[in-house]
Amino acid sequence: MLRSLRPDDLPALHRAFSRLTPEEIEYRFFHRSRELPVSVQRQVRTLDPACDAAFVLDDGGEIRGVADLHMQRPDSREAEFGLIVGKAIAGHGLGTLLMQRLLAEAGRRALTLRGLVRRDNARMLELCRAFGGTVSADPDDPAIVSVSFAPNRWR
Ligand SMILES: CC(C)(COP(=O)(O)OP(=O)(O)OC[C@H]1O[C@@H](n2cnc3c(N)ncnc32)[C@H](O)[C@@H]1OP(=O)(O)O)[C@@H](O)C(=O)NCCC(=O)NCCS
Repeated sequence: MLRSLRPDDLPALHRAFSRLTPEEIEYRFFHRSRELPVSVQRQVRTLDPACDAAFVLDDGGEIRGVADLHMQRPDSREAEFGLIVGKAIAGHGLGTLLMQRLLAEAGRRALTLRGLVRRDNARMLELCRAFGGTVSADPDDPAIVSVSFAPNRWR
């Protein structure tokens, strides 16, 4: 089931994180820590609908995928996004489904979506291009590219 993330999902998110491979963690979070990042834990506990939107794939209480966007301020015109689908169920269109939901939410809020993706992450870059994302080099890190989606495309 595709649904919105809730603050009481934190235990399920910890379990989902523990199932990720080091490569999946690096692709999504750009490090290899085995702990759900503290920043994510804080964001989940204090989900602010004015600044955050997050969607999960709920498989009988186990979370198999997450897509989220975060705005620095409620009046921001852009948001950072992230997406992850666990390897066990990847390759069946669920990343596409989550991305569609996220872009619809960004369109509803008239936001530009921006995200960082590793240059060697062919699957994610393919997915972003399929949705019309613009890929540009990150001036600070040659291993990373920045992907952006103009507002209102998916309203
Ligand atoms: C990237 C990711 C979200 C894709 O999820 P998914 O459920 O596999 O996505 P889909 O099944 O919808 O496939 C999306 C597209 O990726 C491409 N793709 C799928 N498998 C691929 C592969 N093995 N190699 C290259 N491209 C591939 C295809 O274009 C596919 O669309 P299509 O099959 O309709 O042509 C998932 O692999 C993931 O979570 N990776 C780790 C985290 C991450 O990289 N996050 C991105 C940074 S925010």
